[in-house]
Amino acid sequence: MKHLLSFEDVTTDELKALLDNAIALKKAHRAGQDPKTLKDKVVALVFEKSSTRTRVSFETGIYHLGGQAVVVTSSGSQIARGEPTEDTARVMGRYCDMIMVRTFGQEVVEKYAKYAGVPIINGLTDLVHPCQLLADLMTLKEHGLDLATMAVAWIGDGNNMANSWIESAGHLGFKLTLAVPEGYEPDAAILARARARGNKQINIVHSPKEAAKEADVVTTDVWASMGQEAEKAKRAQDFKGFIVDEELLKVAKSGVKVLHCLPAHRGEEIAASVIESHPEIFDEAENRLHAQKQLMIWLMENR
Ligand code: CP
Ligand code: NVA
Repeated sequence: MKHLLSFEDVTTDELKALLDNAIALKKAHRAGQDPKTLKDKVVALVFEKSSTRTRVSFETGIYHLGGQAVVVTSSGSQIARGEPTEDTARVMGRYCDMIMVRTFGQEVVEKYAKYAGVPIINGLTDLVHPCQLLADLMTLKEHGLDLATMAVAWIGDGNNMANSWIESAGHLGFKLTLAVPEGYEPDAAILARARARGNKQINIVHSPKEAAKEADVVTTDVWASMGQEAEKAKRAQDFKGFIVDEELLKVAKSGVKVLHCLPAHRGEEIAASVIESHPEIFDEAENRLHAQKQLMIWLMENR
């Protein structure tokens, strides 16, 4: 059985096939030809953190594929009252055919994979956000970028998104330069694994301009992620200057693509004008739907 807890769960060929097939599935959807892979199937969506895109794109995608979604929030279930994950997972696995989990620690999704007996999808943890990267990579491919040779600049926190970018670069070989403030480096083990796959062009720097220079893609995310609300004021100080604005984009290649997983904090990590002049950000949000539908089809095929 396959899971998607991180991009460690896919081979490079499987990742490439997921992206190609997601693009084909998007076309099929627009032609009114969605496969009904989830007919008579139920997918549970567990949210221990807030969500707009993940929730709506999964619910919509499950509907398109003929299935039924069941949304479980921590506060509306026994999760917030401390029921052990091992028990929640075993019980939900008895009812449902697949489970998507958005939570804090990576060990929680690992426990679901160990105990539920059905495919598990990581819908964001503190460590990684693989569903978002499927959509991001798909978007860049649709916009004509070569995922093997492009240069990507990450500006900001070494967070879950940064870690998933590093995993992606490990698989696909593109140049990735991450500009992070000192003390906000990405996960060292993920970085080491990606480099061990043979990509010698994954580098950490502390200057946004150095990272963005000649980049084909510039991407960023909030300075304080969900769960880091108490650090907001300190982070606002530490991340000063780590903003994707017109000034920064001047050093990138002309026609640079800008991505942001959203939600964005305009005037913090990204200028409002950059969001308004880079509609690929909304293609990226749309592609969550198509990429996750393909992911669910692949997981069903590999049960
Ligand atoms: N990008 C993303 O995962 O958005 P949500 O938090 O709204 O799901
Ligand atoms: N890094 C952000 C991503 C939100 C989609 C967070 O974890 O809150």
